[in-house]
Amino acid sequence: MNKLKIAVFASGGGTNLQSIIDHCEDNKIDAEIVAVVSNKINAYAVERAKNHNITTIIVESKKFKDRNEHEAEIIKQLAPYNPELLVFAGYMRLVTPDFIRHYYNKEKNLPGIINIHPALLPSFPGTSGYEDAFDYGVKYSGITIHFIDEGVDTGPIVLQETFPRNDSDTLEEFKKRGLSIEHRLYPMAIRLYAHNKLKIEGRFVKILE
Ligand code: GRF
Repeated sequence: MNKLKIAVFASGGGTNLQSIIDHCEDNKIDAEIVAVVSNKINAYAVERAKNHNITTIIVESKKFKDRNEHEAEIIKQLAPYNPELLVFAGYMRLVTPDFIRHYYNKEKNLPGIINIHPALLPSFPGTSGYEDAFDYGVKYSGITIHFIDEGVDTGPIVLQETFPRNDSDTLEEFKKRGLSIEHRLYPMAIRLYAHNKLKIEGRFVKILE
């Protein structure tokens, strides 16, 4: 089987990127990272990519007039690498419907962009999933992997896993528990995608045997 070509998009520290790199290098997922894309020149995720000789593409949003021009530049720079799936891992930008359409995976008949969100969607969408769930006082939170659609954290859910908030938890401890799940769940979702084990029925993503 050919390896699934993925492009990982990250704006921050990139611990999820690191986990995906490690899983690819250890042949635990049949995927190859063809590029790491960032909108932040100083993102530590970019360092991580360089440390593993992965192509980096930096397209700073502030240098473009609008979202369409920014995305057009990403599409142009990414085109030679032919990614089959874009993996958003802490990529702090919303994307347009045109961008989403552009990366639709016709061969697999599946959306071509996935995202990881640090809460049990549809609860606590937005940029501070851990903080919002913790401040709300939930007893359980979770991690969600979902396809990207036009909304904010509204796309069809691929995988979810819950974890408890313990009585003695600080926010840091709560986050740490969640992140360790993120690092395991994202490679799992990529593996399912690579092996054609996902099928969308309406909003429901079926995991095939
Ligand atoms: C993760 O918590 C992810 O769920 C969210 O952004 C964070 C990125 O962390 N979307 P990292 O850059 O992968 O360490």
